[in-house]
Amino acid sequence: MSRLLQTGLNAGKDPLIKVVDGEGVYFILADGRRLIDGSNTGGPLGHKHPAMVEAMKKAASNPVINEGWFWAEREAAAEDLINIAFGEEKSWVGAVRFFLSGSEANDLALTFSQALTGRKELATRERAYHGMAGLARQMTVQPHWHGGLAIQGGGSKPVPAQVPVRIIPAPVNAKYGSVSDNRPLAERMAGSQEMLSSVAATIIDYTQGGIYYDPEYQDYVANAARKAGSLWIADEVVTGLGRSGRWFAFQGGETRPDIVTLGKCLAGGSAPAGAVVMSKEIVEEMKDKSWQTYSTFRAHPSAVAAIRAYLSVMADGEIIRRVKTLEGRMHKGLVEIARKHPSVARVDGFGLHWTVELHGPDWRNWYADTAESPLASRVAARAVEAGAIIGTSGEQTSLFLAPSFIISDAELDALLAALDHGLELADAQFERAA
Ligand SMILES: Cc1ncc(COP(=O)(O)O)c(C=O)c1O
Repeated sequence: MSRLLQTGLNAGKDPLIKVVDGEGVYFILADGRRLIDGSNTGGPLGHKHPAMVEAMKKAASNPVINEGWFWAEREAAAEDLINIAFGEEKSWVGAVRFFLSGSEANDLALTFSQALTGRKELATRERAYHGMAGLARQMTVQPHWHGGLAIQGGGSKPVPAQVPVRIIPAPVNAKYGSVSDNRPLAERMAGSQEMLSSVAATIIDYTQGGIYYDPEYQDYVANAARKAGSLWIADEVVTGLGRSGRWFAFQGGETRPDIVTLGKCLAGGSAPAGAVVMSKEIVEEMKDKSWQTYSTFRAHPSAVAAIRAYLSVMADGEIIRRVKTLEGRMHKGLVEIARKHPSVARVDGFGLHWTVELHGPDWRNWYADTAESPLASRVAARAVEAGAIIGTSGEQTSLFLAPSFIISDAELDALLAALDHGLELADAQFERAA
């Protein structure tokens, strides 16, 4: 029996796959199979991208230096991030601080907001996921990711709350299937501004729980937060730096955040890294203050080297344009598949992040407090038979596809074919229930 405490993103007891290596868009398994790695939000350039491998080899001879000491490469990475990724946002972007992960960046952006505003409460939208550490965990309001203990015979021991969390309604979009609420946005969001009037920050992401970005929603929340005296944090941990088919999802709307948080793609998958990027206005408020937070391995030289390498690969915009092209192929392919499978309730997504939601129990009642594999995990297991790995985020009825940006048309089609195969299992269950 393994003495490693396990985390399963495809809920259920047994490991779905045993990975021994990776190459390009493929995972290589212990039994020799090559599987398309169809849901790896941390690996934007796939496995062993030559520019990343080269940078990491060089980085191995750097000194061990912590964020308390000057390191010219760290300064250069901040400049690269501002000049390359935020190149179209010059009038907005103020300054950057690096962190260890998306969760840490969110936790620190939230505590920073509390200190700056003197308020304690925080806000997010329904079904959000912002990470698993500190306040980021508390702002993760998907019931099964409470950060505590799920008892396999039923029941949970969640972590006690640190702060009151206000939850505003989420966007209700679908590229296939029906939207859950047809009322105009202002009507759906009635009362939100009052709710935000006591919060330090409103943190909004663009994909989690299969709920995708829409500019009207962003601008509504941004304006409501501003009027209510709340900071607006755009959680771009998964959408930032290419996956949304542009540098940042927020660029689709008119409004601009107070703070942007980053992770995942930031170091091209070769090192753990996160970042908090502040607007010029916030940086101006900081000019007579210092932010009293520190961690030994933040902006480690290896992470800094990986960040610089990733940004240099992405700098000419070609890969981001490719993501935008693949968005169309994914959209068309997924809608065709959904039409064939009665078990599919809804499809939504953008860029290279897409969700297929199945008919079944309501996500609000899912606590992962069972040893049985939920439906989505069984569909993912069947897709493996057809040569691809698909994610579930541990949700019961939701599958997500987020391959690396280097995926070819043929590989994307093979990924969709594997999903098609997996969904036959969900159809059989759907038909039995009907
Ligand atoms: C939107 C969003 N925010 C935050 C996080 C947490 O990032 P990390 O897993 O790097 O801590 C995630 C991870 O899935 C995410 O998708």
